[in-house]
Amino acid sequence: MCGIVGYTGPREAYPIILKGLKRLEYRGYDSSGVALLNADLKVYKKKGKVAELEESVVGKDVHAFTGIGHTRWATHGEPSDRNAHPHRSKSGNLAMIHNGIIENYASIKQDLQKKGYEFKSDTDTEVLLNFIEDIKENNNCTTEQALRIALKRVVGAYCVLLIDKDDPETIIAARKGSPLVIGIGKGEHFLASDASPIIEYTKEVVYVNDYEIAIVKPDELILKNLGNEKQTPFIQKLDMELAAIEKGGYDHFMLKEIFDQPGSIFDCLRGRLNADAGTITMSGVENHLPSLINAQRIVMVACGTSWHAGLLAEYLFEDICRIPVEVEYASEFRYRNPVINKGDVIIAISQSGETADTLVALENAKEKGAFIFGVVNAVGSSIARMSNAGAYTHAGPEIGVASTKAFTGQLAVLAMMAFKIGYAKGTIDEKRYQHLLTELWNIPDKVAQILEDTSNIQAIAEKYKDAADFLYLGRGYNFPVALEGALKLKEISYIHAEGYPAAEMKHGPIALVDENLPVVFVATKDKYYEKIVSNVQEIKARKGKVIAVATEGDTVIPGMADDVMYVPDADEALAPLLSVIPLQLLSYYIGIAKGLDVDKPRNLAKSVTVE
Ligand code: G6P
Repeated sequence: MCGIVGYTGPREAYPIILKGLKRLEYRGYDSSGVALLNADLKVYKKKGKVAELEESVVGKDVHAFTGIGHTRWATHGEPSDRNAHPHRSKSGNLAMIHNGIIENYASIKQDLQKKGYEFKSDTDTEVLLNFIEDIKENNNCTTEQALRIALKRVVGAYCVLLIDKDDPETIIAARKGSPLVIGIGKGEHFLASDASPIIEYTKEVVYVNDYEIAIVKPDELILKNLGNEKQTPFIQKLDMELAAIEKGGYDHFMLKEIFDQPGSIFDCLRGRLNADAGTITMSGVENHLPSLINAQRIVMVACGTSWHAGLLAEYLFEDICRIPVEVEYASEFRYRNPVINKGDVIIAISQSGETADTLVALENAKEKGAFIFGVVNAVGSSIARMSNAGAYTHAGPEIGVASTKAFTGQLAVLAMMAFKIGYAKGTIDEKRYQHLLTELWNIPDKVAQILEDTSNIQAIAEKYKDAADFLYLGRGYNFPVALEGALKLKEISYIHAEGYPAAEMKHGPIALVDENLPVVFVATKDKYYEKIVSNVQEIKARKGKVIAVATEGDTVIPGMADDVMYVPDADEALAPLLSVIPLQLLSYYIGIAKGLDVDKPRNLAKSVTVE
């Protein structure tokens, strides 16, 4: 939520910042801006996407060797030029960008207003900035000291970058709850919300921790805690290539990421799953096997698409490991005083590893003694670092706002965990274990098969793109897939869509069915197949339009459905890894047919770092 970039060094700052903002647009894109520091402090900002800022800045003076930039997802104040970051302090000497929310901004604002401060924007950021300036003036202290004093008084989450006209080579940064990476170059430093704006310049990075302040100059990086004690920066090497964050010839990141899936699922299995030897190697699981096997309960904690992966994991772990599972929305779990007992295992699922609700829910649970296992995509992210153990999904950077390859990566990791734990526990026998391993190993090839020809799905998208509503139905392992299909459609095409357990539709949604309602059935061959055939008939009897995801070779469902998207056969526990692919494509092609920006759908952001 909001992307931030900073640069200080011998190069022109503006092009580096602009390029970085474009890479971070997935975090928010309702307005953007830059502050450039030379002899003078210049601020340019604009409502809309980064391209609009770029256009508005053409011909203006952008010469500077130090600067900061921001792409916004609005929290306080509507998207507009004046609410865009960076904000300037009353004197005009300080400029700041901010990712997060200052919860007690209203009382600070009132105090400042009593002192005569006037505000140009509706943002909490401008309040924090003037609070810093006020402290600086009253205490006759440095900007860094004033920032430290201010941060001790604020409640909320932040990553801020602050520049001061009187100190033209320095960027002061601080974080609590919102991510910050600093790239270390030769005589230059790069700051960003994630590593994507940095990797083409350097692979050496420092992930700043909560409650740390960084004083960044071209030749120097000083890290301190809020108590003003110096901290030793922990320099890590980035394991990421530039190509991984580029479109690679595809029109959109979303399409690229859908087509990445044979490779990204394989990357997730590689080095872990050996179907011939019948082994799964996952050090995070092996090192904590007793806690996992003896778990009294597993609680899946996640948001959005990752929550759907958690729901699927409930089916997997209960079926295969015979461990009771609950699936929790992180935003509810963190506030409702949940019962957490010794012996509970929390599995945190997150692509970004930065989702604020998930992070805080886990911190609360950890304090109560729960064991946290992180299933995370972004290496080095906050959730990965705070987990007691974990397994990365290795899907590579996911940039399209709607999650695709991270989801299938999550399913692959969770499946391997369930198989390994179930086998060690003795709740699945050798034969089933071997069968599941071979089935999982074959998934990447089967995904590639689905992707060989998508023309049928494009035609279906064209046919139904003007529908006002969609219903998605599935049973068993395919029910979470129905939820995920509906979510993808809402996110990308702005068409109202609901996912439901196929049998439950008789308790309400069936009233919506008429000749205008497309109903997507996730109806692959599994133990519920006969039941879902009956549900399809119930919809047809009411003249609904049926679009089915069916198993290749099936003749019954295709005989009843108006349109069919085929997937290869697979064990029902793994079928979601296949059945979700046509649904991702369907939403993508409907979004394209409607002329929408599928990579940056309105109002959404990829990494939700506010609650
Ligand atoms: C946002 C994104 C979703 C994602 C959800 C959870 O809503 O748009 O794609 O599923 O956050 O994010 P996480 O990074 O924790 O998986």
